[in-house]
Amino acid sequence: MNLKAATRLGGRIGHFSIDGVRLPFREGQTIMAAAMEAGVYIPHLCYNPEFTPHGSCRLCVVRSNGRHLAACTTPAAEGLEVESYTDELQEQRRELLQMLFVEGNHVCPACEKSGACQLQAVAYYCGMLAPELTYFYPQRTVDASHPDIAIDYNRCILCELCVRASREADGKNVFSIAGRGIHAHLQINSSTGKLKDSDLEVTDKAAHVCPTGAILPRNLGYNIPMGKRPYDQKPISLVGDVADHEESS
Ligand code: SF4
Ligand code: FES
Repeated sequence: MNLKAATRLGGRIGHFSIDGVRLPFREGQTIMAAAMEAGVYIPHLCYNPEFTPHGSCRLCVVRSNGRHLAACTTPAAEGLEVESYTDELQEQRRELLQMLFVEGNHVCPACEKSGACQLQAVAYYCGMLAPELTYFYPQRTVDASHPDIAIDYNRCILCELCVRASREADGKNVFSIAGRGIHAHLQINSSTGKLKDSDLEVTDKAAHVCPTGAILPRNLGYNIPMGKRPYDQKPISLVGDVADHEESS
C-alpha cells in the first residue's frame, strides 16, 4: 500500500485478526500495540506501551500459522490470523504464572498491592489456581531506606519495567538487573546499592510502573479499601494495566 492510501485510512495500513476479530494496524505496530489500541486484551506483564518492548515474561505469546509468537515484539501484518484465547495458550500462561508465584514471596493477603496488582489480576484472568510447584521462599531484603519509596525484592518478577522507565523517561538509570538465570536480581545503581543513595524521586515514572507490589510509594498502603481497588470488581481485560490506575491503587 502506498503512503497516500495509508494516510486515507488514518495511518492504518491493513488488517489482521485475533480470535476471529478483525483489527486494523498502523505502520510498525506490533500485534500487542494494535490489539491494545483496539481494546482487545492479550495477557502481558513486561509490556507497557510507553517503553521499548522487552519480550521477557512470555505471557503474551499467541499462535499464528502453527508458530508461537510474542505479541509484544511481533509486528502485525496484513491478513495475519492470530489465536490468543485458546485452552492451550491459557494453560501455558497458567504454568508461567505459577512459576512466577513460586519464585517469589507473593503473599497477597499481606500485600498492600492486592487488588491493584497486575500479576494477581492476570492470574485471575487466566484461571490460575494454587501452584503445584515447590515454593522457593527466597529471603531477599526489603529496602526501606528511601523516605518516599520502598522495594520488596521478594515480589520482583524481573519485568524490567522500572529499569526501562528509569533509563528512557528521565535518563537516571536507577535500576539494573545483575546476575544470570536463577541468580538474576534487580539492583540499585547507587554507591551503597541502597535506594536512599540513588536519584530516584517519588515523582519519577520509574516509581509508578511496577506491575506487582515490589516498588511501592510509601505511606499510601491501604488508602483504598478492599473492594474499591482497580481489579476488585472488573477483570484486567476490562480494567487494563495497573500503571494506568496508579492513583487508585
Ligand atoms: S521491581 Fe517491579 S518493575 Fe522493577 S523489575 Fe521488579 S517487578 Fe518489574
Ligand atoms: S508482554 Fe510480551 S513477553 Fe512480556
